Amino acid sequence: MKILSGIQPSGQLHIGNYFGMMQTMISNMETSELYVFIVDLHALTSVHDREKLAKGTLEAAADFLALGLDPEKCIFWVQSDVPEVCELSWALSTLTPMGLLERCHSYKDKVAKGIAASHGLFAYPVLMAADILLYQADRVPVGKDQKQHLEVARDLAMKFNNQYGETFVVPEPAISESTATVPGLDGQKMSKSYGNTIPIFMEGKELKKRVMAIETDAKPVDDPKDPDTCNLYQMMQLFASKERMEEIRGLYVNGGAAYGYLKLELLDLLNDTFGVAREKKKEYMADPEMVRQILRKGRDKAREKASVTMDLVRERIGLKY
Ligand code: ADP
Ligand code: TRP
Repeated sequence: MKILSGIQPSGQLHIGNYFGMMQTMISNMETSELYVFIVDLHALTSVHDREKLAKGTLEAAADFLALGLDPEKCIFWVQSDVPEVCELSWALSTLTPMGLLERCHSYKDKVAKGIAASHGLFAYPVLMAADILLYQADRVPVGKDQKQHLEVARDLAMKFNNQYGETFVVPEPAISESTATVPGLDGQKMSKSYGNTIPIFMEGKELKKRVMAIETDAKPVDDPKDPDTCNLYQMMQLFASKERMEEIRGLYVNGGAAYGYLKLELLDLLNDTFGVAREKKKEYMADPEMVRQILRKGRDKAREKASVTMDLVRERIGLKY
């Protein structure tokens, strides 16, 4: 089984990214053929600062390594290091109906948030389909927000196969029910672009301030509360043991849940969960050459796989004469 996913190096990675995608990828390391990459070409749709993009790419790679991704047990690379993806993206784009892209809400959402409505942003899902189809991935772990993009990838795989004969695996999304959408400080989806995140690698006072800023209602401690509409409760659920969550649920339903106290408990859980990774990240960031070397090795392995698919694609579409 080939499992593949990518992440944009466009800001500090947060616990939504971790539970939506990174944790699933890392946990599949032992049992699957795993493909993990940093999608710098996608990030170009919103980051036009050379240094920010280059540093973000190294940092996102360090994040994955620090969280336990073992580059010996997967293929781990930077998207732009395998230029075949752009060639495949072009071939797919010639089969992509405009209407399919016009329906993508991610494009509309991003434009509404002020990202320039470029052709690259519009064609973003086609490049993402190329990412997935180039490596013949079976499953793609993502958060719920990427579901529609996965549908585009499936549509394009089927369209290509119909037009030119069986070439691509039709990929399946893998969206975990419990972590499909991790809420942010304000209860909306946690997202870098909403400024409502808890970054995985934030520490100390800065982190405490974020956790204390989680919005809750203003009910007094002893009043009964609804855990299912409380984003603090949903965040705790990601970290606390089942037994502890049962106790906490009791406090919500029967009264006795003190938000300030629970926030401090969440802070401890964050520090316990990510403490080791934070130290490891510092080591990787102190030695960027080591990270680059790991990525170069990954690039070579990824290119080998990509060239097999592209050879076949070129033949199928008539680019071999
Ligand atoms: P952001 O919205 O912060 O820019 P990305 O678009 O870079 O995040 O997402 C990277 C990965 O993390 C994707 O697989 C995405 O579905 C997942 N993800 C992002 N935010 C969340 C969230 N709040 N809950 C669950 N998964 C998420
Ligand atoms: N669009 C994804 C996001 O914003 C990132 C991405 C690009 C991706 N290519 C991919 C995810 C291929 C999975 C597979 O999160």
